[in-house]
Amino acid sequence: PSLEKEFLPMYFGWFLSKRSSEILRKAGQAFLDELGSLKAFKKESKYFASAVEDPKIKTDLTSYFVKRPPGVLHCTTKYTDFGKAPGAEEYAQQEAVKASYGKGFTLSVSALFVTTKTVGARVELSEQQLLLWPGDTDKITPADNFPKGSRAHITLGCASGVEAVQTGLDLLEFVKLEKAGNKGEDVGEIVGGKLQYFDNGMWMLVLSKKIDMKAIFSGYYG
Ligand code: 2AM
Repeated sequence: PSLEKEFLPMYFGWFLSKRSSEILRKAGQAFLDELGSLKAFKKESKYFASAVEDPKIKTDLTSYFVKRPPGVLHCTTKYTDFGKAPGAEEYAQQEAVKASYGKGFTLSVSALFVTTKTVGARVELSEQQLLLWPGDTDKITPADNFPKGSRAHITLGCASGVEAVQTGLDLLEFVKLEKAGNKGEDVGEIVGGKLQYFDNGMWMLVLSKKIDMKAIFSGYYG
């Protein structure tokens, strides 16, 4: 037994390579540009109020999602808050976590999504990657029971005043609707995939070809 408690990071996660970050940022940007220029989106743009004060101006989603993560993108596995978060120590001590620390992975991005609060990428985790996924995070309320890994995402941007933690909760809102049998309204094919609309300003682009991202599993110390 060691005398000192291990110093835990702010969060554990997969950190994308610079190149993969650039590819995903570009895909996200192309999605926002195209979505913002669609008739179907403009019809529903009241949900993005501050972006459409003047309806004649092209809905600029890029300036709506003002808060963008600096540097390389990441997919949080466990938010440990330097050891203060519930389950932090237990997570850090898992064999899978220790064995995978500093190792390379390929993450698969299956969809891009937009809500009135966040824009993000949906990550589909493999069996091996799910070993690094905490058991307590796929919930909006304690009573929720979503499949493991449902929350896996990469934050691409947040609206003014919204914290990054919201992106995962927003993704779970889509999962909740999907679980209830709501597949969204088929808006049609746009560049990169099939666009679905779930009301209340919730848009999901299911990619026709999943994007593979190179990433390193590690911790972020701030
Ligand atoms: P994100 O994973 O959706 O981007 C530092 O704040 C990072 O940890 C951010 O990337 C953020 O969200 C994530 N994060 C912050 N608080 C969190 C929480 N309570 N639960 C899960 N992830 C959190």
